[in-house]
Amino acid sequence: MEQFKKHADRMNRDENHLATLVHRENRFKDFSVQGGGMIYDYSRQRVDREVMQSLFELAETRRIRQQFQDMTDGQIVNLTENRAALHTAARDFSGRTITLNGTDVTAEIRRVQDEINTFTRQVHSGALTGTTGKRFEHVVVIGIGGSYLGTEFVAKALEAQADKNISLHFLSNVDIDCFSSISEKIDPETTLWIVISKSYTTTETMANAAQAEAFIRRHNLDPKDHVATVTAKGSPGDDPDTPALAAFHMFDFIGGRFSVTSAVGGVPLGLYLGYDRFERFLKGAHEMDQHALTADPETNAPLIAAMISVWNNNALGYEANAIIPYSTPLSKLPAHIQQLYMESNGKRVTSDGRVLDKQSGMIVFGEPGTNAQHSFFQLAHQGRSFPVDFIGVINPHYDADTLKSKGVTNHQELWANLIAQPQALATGKTDPDDPARHFPGNRPSSTLLIHDLSPENIGRLLAFYEAKTVFEAFVWGINPFDQFGVELGKTMASEIRSNMAKKNDDPDYRFDGMGPIETAYLDILFSKSSKRMAP
Ligand code: F6P
Repeated sequence: MEQFKKHADRMNRDENHLATLVHRENRFKDFSVQGGGMIYDYSRQRVDREVMQSLFELAETRRIRQQFQDMTDGQIVNLTENRAALHTAARDFSGRTITLNGTDVTAEIRRVQDEINTFTRQVHSGALTGTTGKRFEHVVVIGIGGSYLGTEFVAKALEAQADKNISLHFLSNVDIDCFSSISEKIDPETTLWIVISKSYTTTETMANAAQAEAFIRRHNLDPKDHVATVTAKGSPGDDPDTPALAAFHMFDFIGGRFSVTSAVGGVPLGLYLGYDRFERFLKGAHEMDQHALTADPETNAPLIAAMISVWNNNALGYEANAIIPYSTPLSKLPAHIQQLYMESNGKRVTSDGRVLDKQSGMIVFGEPGTNAQHSFFQLAHQGRSFPVDFIGVINPHYDADTLKSKGVTNHQELWANLIAQPQALATGKTDPDDPARHFPGNRPSSTLLIHDLSPENIGRLLAFYEAKTVFEAFVWGINPFDQFGVELGKTMASEIRSNMAKKNDDPDYRFDGMGPIETAYLDILFSKSSKRMAP
């Protein structure tokens, strides 16, 4: 890492300010790649040839492409949970067979895909209906984290192509206002609820599933006509006695946050968009997987993005990375990548349990541009700096409205900003007379371009971030597939929950076993009053 310290010192010198680098001859040509169906431009990152050379060597030393290959071959790469991580098999159209513990994984995946295909067609044709024989017009996805975020991203991205007369709703939070606002919008007789949970024990999902079942019964409907499930083989929900219109398997070899290309995304997206579009989305993801697996490091878009992210994090010391899609349909991408990246890479030990001597992962956040510009870009330009992923779509879905304002269409205006913002962050602007109007610049970003909002391109984008995430983890030697960090809070909530339940049963129950701060909050909740907060 001594070598990276030297590189960082060099890149911190004035002559390597981005304002200078961006004007170097062939900067765009030399520091951008086209692959996996997208353009990845890193010409405005704080790197030069030498930095990139060292990063490629690091990728080689850490055998990150070999580790990616091991992952796609079904080796046990999730060591702490003794599991494979085969999300890439969920969209593998190469025809190869992957066997795990004697089971043909590819055949199992195909079986589930065929079941989803048949089920979604039956719902669309009206062959499958609710209790009263009415066609389904609403689908409510009950699930949280990886059992919802990726699906929401894809559904929003392809919303304009949803032509199956189905409205999709997401019930993720246990907040009763979430359940109630959805239940006010739907017609019980035409609603299909899909309970999605790999473990089928997640408290929020189980509480919402119970609300849904009671709601269905309250309307004199039968849950077995209105509920479908997606869960791991062998989970408590994988039970033939559970009343359900249909039940689909996901597998323990696909992690929740990597599961949108499995039945987790397949069932709701197949219903919302049609199975054919879901399959096109899978094909795009497969194309990016192949690119990540086979392209040389120098032309491998997710690998380069991962290595630059490691550089920004560990050598240049940035703490956060923003994702700013200049496309409102991609507005749910940052939230999905937040879980994908931060749950995967926010770790403190290596796969073999040694405490890391550097930070893994960065804080991910984002909003669509141009909205983000009118929100937090003040800080981006003049406050603390953070790298940005700008994402552009060359052709918008709606291209009929070509009215011009100030001589340009809305889409061109959007692109004027997409082009200007990374440049402004990079170059800055000196104002010797007015410090408030001085822009320091030298703020790094990448720009990622996709041709349009086709299902294939959404699949490519998803798989790009999945590959980037695991490549980074492979550099650090951490396990991107476990998430023990979410457990402590859940355990504490469970203790508080059992105290609440006791109080519900016995109004005289006192929260003596809890700490003073927890007790103060519990007293506030149970007295439904803020008086205790008064000084
Ligand atoms: O919060 C942790 C987590 O386990 C995520 O990793 C997962 O995506 C989410 O909860 C939901 O889990 P499940 O699909 O088992 O309900």
